[in-house]
Amino acid sequence: MKIGIIGLGFVGLTLTSVLASKGYDIVGIDIDNEKCNKINNGISPFFEPELENILQKGLKKKLKIESNFSLINDCDFIFVTVGTPQNTNGSIDLSIIKKAISTIGENLLKNKKKPIILIKSTVIPGTMERVILPILEKKSNKKAGKDFGLISNPEFLQESSAIRDTKFPHAVVLGGNQTVFMKKAKKIFTKLHPNVPIIITNHQTAEMIKYANNSFLATKISFINQLSNICQKIPGANIDDIAKTIGLDPRIGKLFLNAGPGYGGSCLPKDIKALINFANISGINPTLLNAVEEINAKQLKQIISIIKERLEDLASKRITILGTAFKPDTDDIRDSIAIKLIKKLLKKKAKITIHDPKAMKNTKKIFGDKINYAKTVENALSKSQCAIIMTQWKQYEKLNNNEFKYMTKKFVIDCRRVLVKKQLDVDYFAIGLGKKN
Ligand SMILES: NC(=O)c1ccc[n+]([C@@H]2O[C@H](COP(=O)([O-])OP(=O)(O)OC[C@H]3O[C@@H](n4cnc5c(N)ncnc54)[C@H](O)[C@@H]3O)[C@@H](O)[C@H]2O)c1
Repeated sequence: MKIGIIGLGFVGLTLTSVLASKGYDIVGIDIDNEKCNKINNGISPFFEPELENILQKGLKKKLKIESNFSLINDCDFIFVTVGTPQNTNGSIDLSIIKKAISTIGENLLKNKKKPIILIKSTVIPGTMERVILPILEKKSNKKAGKDFGLISNPEFLQESSAIRDTKFPHAVVLGGNQTVFMKKAKKIFTKLHPNVPIIITNHQTAEMIKYANNSFLATKISFINQLSNICQKIPGANIDDIAKTIGLDPRIGKLFLNAGPGYGGSCLPKDIKALINFANISGINPTLLNAVEEINAKQLKQIISIIKERLEDLASKRITILGTAFKPDTDDIRDSIAIKLIKKLLKKKAKITIHDPKAMKNTKKIFGDKINYAKTVENALSKSQCAIIMTQWKQYEKLNNNEFKYMTKKFVIDCRRVLVKKQLDVDYFAIGLGKKN
């Protein structure tokens, strides 16, 4: 059995590496030649814990990395894991997946097997039946359900725990018609993930499950952020104790209840926007989802107004941003709130210095020499008038008076409450804490 994986980003390269390390015959395909070369040399193009190790294990087995699509011609399973970004109006941009699907279709013409194509990319309900299936049938001159299988197989992994999530998913969703292809897919997933629930449904429900998942997670974050704003007005109140306690209720669950600067990253913001857009064109006013987005946007506005309250005019003020990655243990800055914050502060002519243990290179690609990059936290804080902890990197939990002593104005905004328990000689503001009178 041979498996092809199209698109070697976070989802695709993780799946490729995990399956190859287990000894499966894998071909990983990406249009980016430079990326393919790196991967072939055992180097991951992005930081994800454990990924490089697993990739290198896979490369010693039956893994081929290529930009040549013809290698999928003898594959039994083809996973599609290309990006589905957003248009400026928030709707989903299907151009990348359409292109990848067209090329797969052209190659299907020559495929002597009857492969199963599984779409892992997040796509808005109806995309499989209205967009992907017609392209595949037209380009290949073959029939879905007869000459090839087509299955929606949304992905739920989280960056920073992508390997674990790929090895041990909480569920496998298979959407499509009840054909022999579906039976075959169920069999391989049962072998790969024994004891994991496999949900078999139709395409549109599978597509919607992914949006339901992400919009619920975003709702939890906006919920706790709204409560954290209320807590800030209650002297002595602590959002973490509240989150921890309500999280013990099994009906609520403890995850995604960390108050902070708002949700970011490559998935939640774009998926919520795409669902809002889809609801609107379907004639549904997505009141709750709109509120989730509005609360999220307000978190950033709140941070800026707190900085302005203390520093007044921001022109030429030195501000340090600790953490630009959208979460710890990744170098991904796509839709990171820290990046949005820096853009806003630059507009106000502030002088920005950043520090991030992993995301410095990616941040430099956006800002070039418009901001300063400090290799150490001490350097980042030196002569600064305001420090903002944006990402919950472990090393920021260790900060002490020593690191803050060379700030010219010791004003610290802790968006993650990592320093709450420290006795610091600084003017300290933490999201979600009510200042004691
Ligand atoms: N990143 C996540 O945490 C995550 C989690 C769950 C689901 N998803 C979804 O999975 C999909 C992929 O996300 P990602 O973050 O891995 O994307 P990504 O942007 O990191 O990677 C996509 C890859 O596809 C390649 N590519 C683009 N066009 C191609 C083509 N025609 N042929 C072959 N390769 C091509 C790109 O070069 C890139 O390497 C998206 O739909 C996303 O919403 C992402």
